[in-house]
Amino acid sequence: MFNLESFDIKLNTDFIGRNFIYTEEIDSTNTYLLNKTNKINVDGTVLLTEKQIKGHGRKDRIWYSAKEQNLTFSILITNKKLIKDKFNLLNFAASLSVAIAIENLYQLRTELKWPNDVLVNGKKIAGILLESISQGSKIEKLVIGIGLNVNQVMFQGNFNIPPTSIKTELNENVDRERLLAELLNTFEELLEKVEKYPSDLMKDWKSRCRLIGEKISVVEDDKTKYGIFDDLDDDGYLLLKNKGKIEKIHFGDVSLA
Ligand code: BTN
Repeated sequence: MFNLESFDIKLNTDFIGRNFIYTEEIDSTNTYLLNKTNKINVDGTVLLTEKQIKGHGRKDRIWYSAKEQNLTFSILITNKKLIKDKFNLLNFAASLSVAIAIENLYQLRTELKWPNDVLVNGKKIAGILLESISQGSKIEKLVIGIGLNVNQVMFQGNFNIPPTSIKTELNENVDRERLLAELLNTFEELLEKVEKYPSDLMKDWKSRCRLIGEKISVVEDDKTKYGIFDDLDDDGYLLLKNKGKIEKIHFGDVSLA
């Protein structure tokens, strides 16, 4: 069971995670926080669950996480300015904060895979999913859902990228409370970069980015595109180079070609 007291002592933020909701079981932390009827509007609210019944990932893939072993949570962002102008950068701040927290606490080398997977030794250790609800053309609430494999060591199913966890890589049990606090502390620090120094944030992200400079394929819906992963632009879109031309890619699954 997650120890709220030991988490709270290590949390060093002004607003991220200060409104903290803990639940044994829920459909999906993202879906719950986004639901208008729940009246949860406090910026930075964190909802952590021990088990999701309908955890989902990008492209409606199922996100499975063993009960009480991992960190399965969502962060609510209601700050209008961030939601409106910096949607994409929040995605990068989230994956970077997972990577930095793992590096700081366990000295594991992490890699980031565009747009938002965190890898260790070529295996996926965390997935991130941003979702939002809008009123007319205005985004009202945004949630950043993070599934981080911590102490789970058995994984069943078919995966695009083989999964791993911190325990699998370290061979020892990991303190989830300390890890979540470190991650949220880092995320709040990076939010300042999102607002004031976005190019520093992207530089840090790119320094861990797998596949920049490589020949890649990008699957966008049912289309596959090929080229060189040239760079990411300031908004975080992938720039794909093919026959001397650059194409901006907004989303997709990237692999080595
Ligand atoms: C992916 O890799 O496709 C993203 C996975 C995101 C999973 C997290 S777990 C917490 C939050 N609630 C969900 O239903 N999904 C996200």
